[in-house]
Amino acid sequence: MTDLFDPTRYAAVRRPLLEAATLPPDCYTSPEFYRREVSNIFMKCWNLIGRTDYLRNPGDYFTYTLVGISLIVMHGEDGKIRAFVNSCRHRGARLLEGEGNCKSIRCPYHSWLYSTTGALRGSNGMQNTRNFAASDYGLADVRLETWCGFLFVNFDPHSVSLREYLGDLDRYTESYEFETMVTVKRRDFTVATNWKSYIENSMENFHLPTVHQKSIGGIKAEWNPIDGAPGNFVILQTLTAASRATLGNDAAFDRIATLRGAAAQGAQYILIYPCTVIGADLDCVWFKQMAPEGPGLVRYSAGFCFPRVTVERSDFDEIVPNYHKRFDLVISEDNGIAETQLQGLINPFSRPGRFSTMEPLMHAIDNWILDRVVGPLPVAQRTAAE
Ligand code: FES
Ligand SMILES: [Fe+2]
Repeated sequence: MTDLFDPTRYAAVRRPLLEAATLPPDCYTSPEFYRREVSNIFMKCWNLIGRTDYLRNPGDYFTYTLVGISLIVMHGEDGKIRAFVNSCRHRGARLLEGEGNCKSIRCPYHSWLYSTTGALRGSNGMQNTRNFAASDYGLADVRLETWCGFLFVNFDPHSVSLREYLGDLDRYTESYEFETMVTVKRRDFTVATNWKSYIENSMENFHLPTVHQKSIGGIKAEWNPIDGAPGNFVILQTLTAASRATLGNDAAFDRIATLRGAAAQGAQYILIYPCTVIGADLDCVWFKQMAPEGPGLVRYSAGFCFPRVTVERSDFDEIVPNYHKRFDLVISEDNGIAETQLQGLINPFSRPGRFSTMEPLMHAIDNWILDRVVGPLPVAQRTAAE
C-alpha cells in the first residue's frame, strides 16, 4: 500500500489543469488524511467564525466549535471582541453553551467567576492555596482578528496576521463595504460530505445546468476564475447584467450603490481558504462559514447581509423572503449533490478523474490543499509532472 502522505502519490494532480487528475477518492474519506488537514490547515489558517454585528453590546457572546475545539466569542466590557477557550482554568469544565448576554461568566462546577474580558474575578475556595495568583488563571484566548466585519480566529500563535493572509483580496471586495452591512438571517446546516467537496462545488459553474436546473441553472453568464495566490483565496467572477440572488421575476432590491469595477458587473464568489465562502452579488451578500467534523461531515452556518439602506426600506420585510426562497432552494440542491458525491467517493472502486476547462479553481484548490497536507513534489519529479 502506498504512503498516503508521499508527495509522489499526487504527481498527477500537480500537472497543468488539462493534463491533471483529480485528488484520489481517499483524500475525501480517509480519517488519517483528515487528521493531517486539521493539524496542517485548520490549526494554522484563519477561519471565519461570525460577524461583528452578532455581538453588538458588551457581554454579548456566542459559542462556536471548530474541528472539535469549543470557543466562546465575547464582546468584552472594554469594547473588544475576543475568542476564549471554552474551558474553566480550575478543572476544565465547559463554561458556556449557545449564545446570549452575561455580565460575567460563572463556571457551572465550583463557581469560579470570569469577567467578559476573560480575567479571573472570583476564585471561590482558593484562599489557602499557596502561590496562587488569580492573574495567572484568566481564560486562555485564541487569536481573533477582524476583516470588514467578519470575525476570524487562528489557533496558531505564529501565523501571519489576517491582513497578510488575505493578500490583495481587498482590491476585489472593498466597494461592497462589507463592514457597514447588516446581517439579517443566519441558518445552520449539517451535510454528510467532505469539506473539500463543498468548497469545490462553490467554486465551479460546471454543475449549474444539471444540479440547479430548477433554480439558477438557466442563467447565461461569462465566468472569470481568479487564483488569488499569494493571498489565500480564489474568486469565481460572473459577468451578468442583473443580480442572481432572486428567482425569475420576483421583486428585488436596488443594486448596492457603492459597487465599482468587476463588483459592479456581476456576482463574485469568493473562497478564503480553507472554509469561508462569500457570495457577493449586485444587491446582497451571503456567506457560509464551514466547520468540518470528520472526513464525512460538515456543519456550516450561512448568513445574509444587506446594505443598511436596504434593510431600512419600508418594503424590506415584504421582499426579503424572495432572497431566502432562492437561497434555500439553491443550497438544498448543493447540499444534496455534495452528499451524493461522497456516497460515490466512498465506493472502494472509485478512482481519480480529470478536469474540464470549467474547473480551473478545483485544480487550484486541490493543489493548495496538497501543498499543506503532503508538501511539494520532490524536484526530480517536477519536470515529469509539468
Ligand atoms: S471547574 Fe470551573 S470552578 Fe471548578
Ligand atoms: Fe451550486
